[in-house]
Amino acid sequence: MATLAKSDASPAPRTRGLKIPPQGVGGFDRSWFPICLSTDVGPGEVIGREFMDGQIVIWRGESGTPHVQSAFCRHLGAHLKVGEVVGEHIRCAFHHWSYDGKGQCIKIAAGDTPPRDATLFDFPTRESLGLIWAFNGDEPDVELPHFSAPEDTLLLKAHHVKDMNIDSYMVFSNSMDFQHLKVVHGVELIGDLEDLEITDRGMTYSQNMKIPGIGTVRQTIRAWGTNSIALEGVTMGRKTFQMSVGCPLPGNRARIFNIDSTVKPTDAPGDAQMAEQLIQIMIDFGDRLIAEDAPVHDSMSFRHDRMAESDKYLAMYLRFARLYPRHHPAADLIAV
Ligand code: FES
Ligand SMILES: [Fe+2]
Repeated sequence: MATLAKSDASPAPRTRGLKIPPQGVGGFDRSWFPICLSTDVGPGEVIGREFMDGQIVIWRGESGTPHVQSAFCRHLGAHLKVGEVVGEHIRCAFHHWSYDGKGQCIKIAAGDTPPRDATLFDFPTRESLGLIWAFNGDEPDVELPHFSAPEDTLLLKAHHVKDMNIDSYMVFSNSMDFQHLKVVHGVELIGDLEDLEITDRGMTYSQNMKIPGIGTVRQTIRAWGTNSIALEGVTMGRKTFQMSVGCPLPGNRARIFNIDSTVKPTDAPGDAQMAEQLIQIMIDFGDRLIAEDAPVHDSMSFRHDRMAESDKYLAMYLRFARLYPRHHPAADLIAV
């Protein structure tokens, strides 16, 4: 075996590899983000939440249509979460200025004409898969994350898993981190990834895996941006659909939601019970992955540092995450 003579060996560089700048540096991902569960806000209600590096309100008009808007009134900055929904408008508690579903101030209780530029940031808003979503931008330029099956054919459960002290990309890099999947979660890749397609906004691929407690499954995986990943396959003889999505919060944290789903049960005896049991198995599995990772995720100082051969897909994912486009058009309107 060839060895270097001591005098020939140059010292290894004592610098670590590249950071991925945290969300908020150069803006936030130009993506759809899950804001809250659909059940968190009812018709005629308003709630306040953190989002990116600021504050937003989520409210539904009496008709039930959801809106996600910057939190602070354009008069003196009162938080609209303590305001009130009146019909299809949100009314500020301080002097009763009212805003419509597009964020435009349309009425001042004192009778004045509202300033034309008294507008909230109105995030493009959608409701699907048990969540209310907002796009970071004026107009969405990517698809809302979804499953290949229409939502009305699915039995699904969405839940808030955990708020984490890391960016979403670190959570979702797991799906391409095959060393980690094996040694921490006991999940083994069988063969190589198949049908891999990658663009600057997302990726798809298929893989065969052996999962403890579930068995061997073939999954088709689709990632939208760096904050959402969907897995579809057949588990225990039944089509299953899972999605994990993250929302950036102030302080470089992320709120993680999971959606677990299967095809709606038929009237066959035991089918409804089987579907419910399978969803619970998936929920427990997803929660277990997050819990097993928590000690590492809560204390790591991420760098894209030295890589081994089995990291080739992980390296590809990290490059994708580093180059994902960012911006922040709502910056000043949501800032505290
Ligand atoms: S601060 Fe909202 S109406 Fe005055
Ligand atoms: Fe993990």
